[in-house]
Amino acid sequence: MIFFFSGTGNSRFVANRLADRLCEQASFIPETDPEKCSFSGSMLGFVFPVYSWGIPPLIEEFIARLPEEFCKDVQKSGTYAWMACTCGDEAAFTPEMLAKALSARNIPLKGIWSVIMPNNYVLLPGFNVDNKEVEKSKLEAAPARIDAIAEAIARKETCIDIVRGKHASFKSKMVYPLFKRWGIFPRRWRWTPECIGCEQCAVTCPMGNIRMQNGHPLWGDRCVSCLACYHICPTHGVAYGNATRIKGQYICPLKK
Ligand SMILES: Cc1cc2nc3c(=O)[nH]c(=O)nc-3n(C[C@H](O)[C@H](O)[C@H](O)COP(=O)(O)O)c2cc1C
Repeated sequence: MIFFFSGTGNSRFVANRLADRLCEQASFIPETDPEKCSFSGSMLGFVFPVYSWGIPPLIEEFIARLPEEFCKDVQKSGTYAWMACTCGDEAAFTPEMLAKALSARNIPLKGIWSVIMPNNYVLLPGFNVDNKEVEKSKLEAAPARIDAIAEAIARKETCIDIVRGKHASFKSKMVYPLFKRWGIFPRRWRWTPECIGCEQCAVTCPMGNIRMQNGHPLWGDRCVSCLACYHICPTHGVAYGNATRIKGQYICPLKK
């Protein structure tokens, strides 16, 4: 069983490829009601993007809402639990956050991997998508890395194989809590004069947080900062205040 989240497709690609290699089913978290989950299979995997050197809060919420019965079945069967996070560069102490959320449900996390993928974070000054050369080399390296991870998962390896990066502790312990508290202000999302009302943003939002009003998008308050709406727009017609005015766009081009 693999649960995953993805905004711009990197983690979706990783989850689908792992599911394919491991003959497992990958379930998209926003489309999965945790309270209706029953455990089946021999493994429990999580695939998700790193957000501000930590775990997307919706992953923790999902795990907290899994039924007691589900967790007992995982424990009873001695199921192997693993994670593969995707990140532009560094994961810092993200795995420890997932381990903590799982440990609260008495599930030990055994296998831990990160996959470097093109960066999609553009909201703060100094952060932008990768240039085309870097993007290309990351995308070329990804399939082999994912296949190696699949083999290690199949062997039920206990390991931590991630890029933590410099000052990892500071980033995860000091910056991540700030992101959790102030990382996103849904009201800053807006459409620009380039918006052609194509609805791509509304259709793509994994949280169903965008509706069209008078031919343009209107954001609700359930934004999880995945940036799918910004990156999918064919005319660069979605903006976050003025922060994204001269930033690039990225959608994972790799297909299952
Ligand atoms: C809100 C946000 C925060 C991010 N923080 C980090 C980070 O701390 N470290 C990093 O290497 N990449 C970071 N990224 C980049 C993503 O983790 C990376 O591009 C990921 O592969 C995107 O996955 P997706 O396409 O499945 O949404 C961040 C992206 C977003 C949207």
